[in-house]
Amino acid sequence: PSAVRVALLGCGTVGTQVARVLVEHGEEIGARVGAPVELVGVGVRDAAADRDPAVPRDLLTGDADALVARADVVVELIGGTTRARELVHAAIRNGASVVTANKALLAAHGPELYEAADAAGVDILYEAAVAGAVPVVRGVRESLAGDRVQRVLGIVNGTTNYILDQMTTGGLDFADALARAQELGYAEADPTADVEGYDAAAKAAILASLAFHTRVSMDDVAREGITSITARDIDTARRMGGVIKLLAIVERVATADGEAVALRVHPAVLPAAHPLAGVGGAFNAVVVEAEAAGRLMFYGAGAGGRPTASAVLGDVVAAARHRVQGGRAPAESAYAELPLASPDHV
Ligand code: NDP
Ligand code: HSE
Repeated sequence: PSAVRVALLGCGTVGTQVARVLVEHGEEIGARVGAPVELVGVGVRDAAADRDPAVPRDLLTGDADALVARADVVVELIGGTTRARELVHAAIRNGASVVTANKALLAAHGPELYEAADAAGVDILYEAAVAGAVPVVRGVRESLAGDRVQRVLGIVNGTTNYILDQMTTGGLDFADALARAQELGYAEADPTADVEGYDAAAKAAILASLAFHTRVSMDDVAREGITSITARDIDTARRMGGVIKLLAIVERVATADGEAVALRVHPAVLPAAHPLAGVGGAFNAVVVEAEAAGRLMFYGAGAGGRPTASAVLGDVVAAARHRVQGGRAPAESAYAELPLASPDHV
């Protein structure tokens, strides 16, 4: 079979690690796909900037449109919702499959992108958009497709978990812990998205859409971040035998007319014995409660270049396999309208 041409958009924290694996282990990945997988280019803002030597210089380009036009699989890792949206639409129009880690894009414009992908018969895969390396998107979308999810509750932002953990046990204050999270590649380009809870709200919207087969956007999520948490709050929680965590909670609730979804992100004090209380550093953990499966827990590295690249590459292999062997990821266009719960439920 002919090679599957992969275009990478973005060569920052995550893109660099994806490029490195495709260059160093391309043959092994090709063997898993059943056809050669060729990285045909890496789109960036500044093609002349110094980069990790693992990324071949001759693959770098500032012309993302031209790159997208010659790819079978487009991997969007530039972030933001404007240029990324244009490029993902261009890829789909061109008949390419899309892999993205961009939760902000999906939580704002997911439905139009899913519809475009369904109409074009291509994949749009986004395992890395929620909880980094942790396979919770596939778990909810595929493994639990025959069950009825009631509630998803989790720590889905690595930066804020790292900050709270450092403030609790590492002796750093908020500003120093945030600076360290940025150095480690956990934070968004604008860390306001992390500390004000927007990133967790985007992930909550994606999880709710998958879990309840409905469509919600991040604006539907009641949101409070961690900027008002003080060292004193953390100390008070500790003296009560608890720990402060930023939680995302999405649940199906009964209403007078049937069912609705309640969606929220906020800090909470968890008792030390709670399964989420011991989740440290930039780790994430998501508890999913489903009617038949009962309670499941997904846990692992939620941010950072290499863990996120693992999830991205899993999607690249899946999308490439579909192009070689046929088939598609589950269509996103089948959904039911579920109303949002009134604020009483939130
Ligand atoms: P970075 O800021 O480190 O990298 C962004 C890359 O995109 C850079 O290489 C930049 O180019 C390029 N870029 C930005 N704008 C454009 C543009 N308009 N045209 C072409 N290239 C552009 O981001 P991350 O790698 O941290 O994140 C990428 C995506 O992955 C985001 O959507 C993020 O939310 C998501 N994500 C990140 C995780 C993490 O832990 N970091 C985890 C999970 C998801 P240049 O280098 O020239 O500036
Ligand atoms: N900024 C995000 C976080 C990256 O800290 O969780 C992973 O989505």
